[in-house]
Amino acid sequence: DERTFVMAKPDAVQRGVVGEIVSRLEGKGLKMVAGKFVQIDEELAHEHYGEHEDKPFFDGLVEFITSGPVFAMVWEGADATRQVRRMMGATDAQEAQPGTIRGDLGNDLGHNLIHGSDHEDEGANEREIDLFFDEDELVDWEQGTATWVYEDADDH
Ligand code: GTP
Ligand code: MG
Repeated sequence: DERTFVMAKPDAVQRGVVGEIVSRLEGKGLKMVAGKFVQIDEELAHEHYGEHEDKPFFDGLVEFITSGPVFAMVWEGADATRQVRRMMGATDAQEAQPGTIRGDLGNDLGHNLIHGSDHEDEGANEREIDLFFDEDELVDWEQGTATWVYEDADDH
């Protein structure tokens, strides 16, 4: 099954909505296979957001993502990367649709609560998982509800 990297950003931690973010992904039927509460340092921030290095908002982005702890996670499920992106909503939380995490909980482009690997960037999910987690931190477990989430659960 596909794995994707997800992170509740510092604003989500400060605002106490980490649980709600986890809850929404759980509710969808996705399976959490790793999670840790971490303070991102400058170096990790630069690596994680390397694709935006030349953008005018890069320094602000690094400052924000290192401004407090985050909750980093790995979630697994059918088409997980794209599903999480759909649940996150548009990058600018002000424009994000109601029903999405950003649309329901956020109000700002810079403070948009959640990161999920880009499904249009091939291999971004595996790259980001590797950046934040050691292989032995990914837990292999059977989700008892899978047969009720997916009609063809054996394929997952
Ligand atoms: P992430 O999950 O954080 O990667 O968001 P995203 O994939 O929806 O957006 P993207 O990767 O394009 O941008 C990364 C982050 O940079 C976003 O989450 C925004 O907080 C911030 N950002 C993107 N575009 C802009 C911009 O034009 N101005 C500012 N100030 N911030 C931006
Ligand atoms: Mg992105």
